[in-house]
Amino acid sequence: MTDLSSQKFGSAPIFVTGSAGFIGSNFLRKWLRQVGTPVVSLDLLTYAGNLESLFEAREDLRHTFVRGDIADYRLVFELLKSHSPAAIVNFVAESHVDRSILGPEPFVTTNVLGTFRLLEAARAYWQELASPARTAFRFLHVSTDEVFGSLGPSDAPFCESTSYDPSSPYSATKAASDQLVRAWHRTYGLPILLTNCSNNYGPAQFPEKLIPLVILNALEGKRLPIYGDGLNVRDWIYVEDHCEAIMRVLNAGIVGETYCLGGQSERTNIDVVRTICAMLDRLRPRPDGVRHESAVTFVADRPGHDRRYAIDNGKVARTLGWKPSVTFEEGLEQTVKWYLENSAWVGRVRSGEYLSWVEENYTRRTAQ
Ligand code: NAD
Ligand code: TYD
Repeated sequence: MTDLSSQKFGSAPIFVTGSAGFIGSNFLRKWLRQVGTPVVSLDLLTYAGNLESLFEAREDLRHTFVRGDIADYRLVFELLKSHSPAAIVNFVAESHVDRSILGPEPFVTTNVLGTFRLLEAARAYWQELASPARTAFRFLHVSTDEVFGSLGPSDAPFCESTSYDPSSPYSATKAASDQLVRAWHRTYGLPILLTNCSNNYGPAQFPEKLIPLVILNALEGKRLPIYGDGLNVRDWIYVEDHCEAIMRVLNAGIVGETYCLGGQSERTNIDVVRTICAMLDRLRPRPDGVRHESAVTFVADRPGHDRRYAIDNGKVARTLGWKPSVTFEEGLEQTVKWYLENSAWVGRVRSGEYLSWVEENYTRRTAQ
């Protein structure tokens, strides 16, 4: 166990929202493994939230799961009052750019209105706390580098002072949520922390995102759809490294401040897909002997597709001593193996809703 909790929060629980999603579930399991203090968690279990992603944490007596909406002020406030958490870590979002393009409204509802209601419940709870709990309380909002918009090939990476310039309904609503969080600090004094992280990958990511989609399509002999020319660049971070950084920020970050978190692994999409294919050629060759890469298909681009993301980790490295510990190739191999070994999880999360999404997003994208 680390001394993170004893340093800051003693034995009080923390409140994790979005705990059945990709990053939230990895964070919750890591917290129970590493810190060990109780967790109360809330998730609406949308298409992206799956209790199966909690694995051992489902049965863990230190964890209390509640199904519900962060926009339900009364529910959230009652939960906070009855469990007295020392901190809130908010992972909730509608998180997929392509879905935000085809149907932006849930993004506004959850990312903007939901964050607002959660902030209000947190504020009402925090204002009633007595010291020292009131002084130690933190509201950590987990956000994305996509709020900064798009970089050119030789632009300097995003950092904490980069202006917001979002391109998609997803990133615009995340930007709005970040600004609400900052305003609740400046106006009401709510002790917030904010993180803007680059693209995550790892176990239990919903297979609508590039890396799990390509792994699973390849295993099923389906085409591997690459938007546009495949030269868009993302800075990939292994989810475990992201969760470690969140713990550091929660423990020692300065109230009111933002921390940019990146994987220091910029890759073009076509490179990512080729690397996955090469790993699968070794770990799970196609029965017909053809290389997995042969299924790569260039398809119609995403509208408003950001060209490049990159993060300067300087502040978090200098002030909190954090840097990513897993290289892209190591993390990707672990991820590919996880999907090979967890076909039951894959089967359960790919519901009818998933199949209709694949139909909606990909049938109109004919090969280019
Ligand atoms: P995800 O889509 O896998 O999980 C989101 C979770 O939120 C799901 O479990 C869903 O059921 C839940 N949820 C949705 N609406 C809800 C509501 N109204 N009330 C309660 N629960 C609700 O997302 P993720 O990839 O785990 O991302 C988590 C957070 O990290 C998001 O805020 C996202 O913007 C941010 N982020 C993600 C990445 C990435 O690469 N995945 C990178 C940087 C930041
Ligand atoms: P994604 O995993 O959706 O993350 P984000 O859009 O938040 O960065 O996509 C990562 C990159 O992969 C992005 O440039 C879009 C591209 N992409 C494809 O080329 N094909 C696909 O089928 C998907 C889902 C994404």
